[in-house]
Amino acid sequence: MSFSRSSAQSLKQALKATAPKAAGRQIAKRSYTLLAREAPKAMVASRLGATRGVKTLDFAGTKEVVYERADWPLDKLQDYFKNDTLAMIGYGSQGHGQSLNARDQGLKVIVGVRKGGESWKQAQEDGWVPGETLFDIPEAINKGTIIMNLLSDAAQSQTWSEIAPLITKGKTLYFAHGFSVVYKEDTNVVPPKDVDVILVAPKGSGRTVRTLFLEGRGINSSIAVYQDVTGQAKEKAVALGIAVGSGYCYETTFEKEVYSDLYGERGVLMGGIQGMFLAQYEVLRKNGHSPSEAFNETVEEATQSLFPLIGKYGMDYMYNACSTTARRGALDWAPKFKEANLPVFEALYKSCRDGSETRRSLEFNSRKTYREDLQKELDEIDNQEIWRAGKTVRKLRPDANKDEL
Ligand SMILES: NC(=O)c1ccc[n+]([C@@H]2O[C@H](COP(=O)([O-])OP(=O)(O)OC[C@H]3O[C@@H](n4cnc5c(N)ncnc54)[C@H](OP(=O)(O)O)[C@@H]3O)[C@@H](O)[C@H]2O)c1
Repeated sequence: MSFSRSSAQSLKQALKATAPKAAGRQIAKRSYTLLAREAPKAMVASRLGATRGVKTLDFAGTKEVVYERADWPLDKLQDYFKNDTLAMIGYGSQGHGQSLNARDQGLKVIVGVRKGGESWKQAQEDGWVPGETLFDIPEAINKGTIIMNLLSDAAQSQTWSEIAPLITKGKTLYFAHGFSVVYKEDTNVVPPKDVDVILVAPKGSGRTVRTLFLEGRGINSSIAVYQDVTGQAKEKAVALGIAVGSGYCYETTFEKEVYSDLYGERGVLMGGIQGMFLAQYEVLRKNGHSPSEAFNETVEEATQSLFPLIGKYGMDYMYNACSTTARRGALDWAPKFKEANLPVFEALYKSCRDGSETRRSLEFNSRKTYREDLQKELDEIDNQEIWRAGKTVRKLRPDANKDEL
């Protein structure tokens, strides 16, 4: 693959690389592959005319530099990585999203996963070719110049002793999470002293990394430098952030990224929201409300009506969009919820910071049966009445794709 070609040529190539694979294949339920099949027209087109513009923005009184995609027009990005091979090690949701986004932008990308595993299969479905762009992990590391460690955090620790000797001087070591390096006492991941070590942590699922890119937008990502031996580490982190599909990159440290990330996903983003939904639903059901009423009042109205308003315009806008009755009650009860939740959040932050969450995750996700064990618990959630009721509610939506529910 040549990297000196024009942006227009790379657009053509990117579309060619992705579009034909979409035809005539059965779409697997919930497969990442689903997302790989959309031609990235909007995104690549929007990249062609991009112009430079690093910004210092005021975040509620604190000034921060934000790096944006406009700083890295496609031809500049391709030129910057013209001598590089991005080796994506791992093909979970991040490996999938990041590798396809970089490939669609005309960069030289290869994937490294264990042969015969689920990821090997998925990568082939997405057009990675064994022996050409798909290799086992050691081979991919040997061929790569930028080693993007996107194995599960537990696997990063388990495989480190085999991987570390292959990360030789001149290569760059990249992570999507501060986990392995920050908790090195638990993970044993100590990077070699003579390579740049950087991080790009997309603030969202790998699926969203892909869908936002395909929509011509881009996910927010945190970037950080752990070790800078070339003096170029930060610039490389920003460029890689754009390469994998970020729209905006925010600077942080490995430590702050991992503390906030572990905390957020256990809190409001995932653990907290499931706990809160379930508690509200159960009280409604105990008091004689039907499953549909309890679900609509807890989840459907939240996700379909009110949360999108918070996302688009902020909390006060959402309050104002509701009745005065709703506003009065919500204003009275919000402080009570904050007070009740504060000790839980304090305990959670401490548990993230002191490494307890790391050890729990390493222990569980290092089991041979980690996929099945996690799936068993997720199936239990899927079987909870609240989420079974949700399936029926979702089927009634006019745009429902019944196969995906
Ligand atoms: N997902 C997110 O929302 C998100 C967001 C930001 C950052 N991150 C970070 O991105 C990184 C990757 O996360 P992810 O969610 O994409 O992936 P993941 O689901 O956590 O990991 C999946 C990958 O790890 C491989 N793997 C697991 N055990 C292995 C072992 N013992 N040996 C070799 N390979 C093994 C799997 O291969 P097999 O299929 O062969 O098992 C698969 O390719 C992590 O550092 C994560 O913290 C994730």
